[in-house]
Amino acid sequence: MKKIQISPSILSADFSQLGNEIKRLEEGGADMIHVDVMDGHFVPNLTIGPPVIKALKKNSSLLFDVHLMISPVHKYIQAYSEAGADIITIHPEATNDLKLSILKIKDLKKKVGISLNPETGVNIIKEFLHQIDLVLIMSVNPGFGGQKFMPEVLEKIKELKKIQKEKNINFDIEIDGGINFENSKLAIEAGANILVSGTTIFKSNDGDIKKNIELLKLK
Ligand code: DX5
Ligand code: ZN
Repeated sequence: MKKIQISPSILSADFSQLGNEIKRLEEGGADMIHVDVMDGHFVPNLTIGPPVIKALKKNSSLLFDVHLMISPVHKYIQAYSEAGADIITIHPEATNDLKLSILKIKDLKKKVGISLNPETGVNIIKEFLHQIDLVLIMSVNPGFGGQKFMPEVLEKIKELKKIQKEKNINFDIEIDGGINFENSKLAIEAGANILVSGTTIFKSNDGDIKKNIELLKLK
């Protein structure tokens, strides 16, 4: 059983204090930092790009789990790698050659993640599962924090677990969107080992990050 890790999303952080917010996450026991990059084209929101990631990475020893909700994504992979992304997760719909984009990330010696939107089935990535490090299951439609969890995506996690067993392949299963203290247990039971959370971590229990991270890890 893989160790449960928490990857807080800075989308819900105080953007006027991002450096300090990352320090708070580090002190609160975060396992990595989830950076939601949005381009206003692939998703109807616009957040941060390579210069901000580069500045934040300088002050943190944590892994940067960078979720690229941008398209076309292939030509930007290099820039996010150079900015300091440790895990680069892309959406299959955002590249016209998923195999090439996976190879590009691997050539840059970064971990490769593929993200599936709620309506996208596991089938489209089955052939790549042996090559990647992580599958990011979206439990909301990408674009905004604070949305309602979509429990139907848990079936995809169970399907991925089954494939892992049948083919004896090992990749992390990360879930992102609307995660709270109730549904985190369902996600872990289904087989997720990395939980992304923004709202619950920054807003619950008067913003007690350490407490919120611990509560999310409880099975
Ligand atoms: C959506 C984002 C969010 C974010 C988590 O595109 O990826 O899922 O990371 O947001 P919360 O935890 O506030 O739902
Ligand atoms: Zn995300």
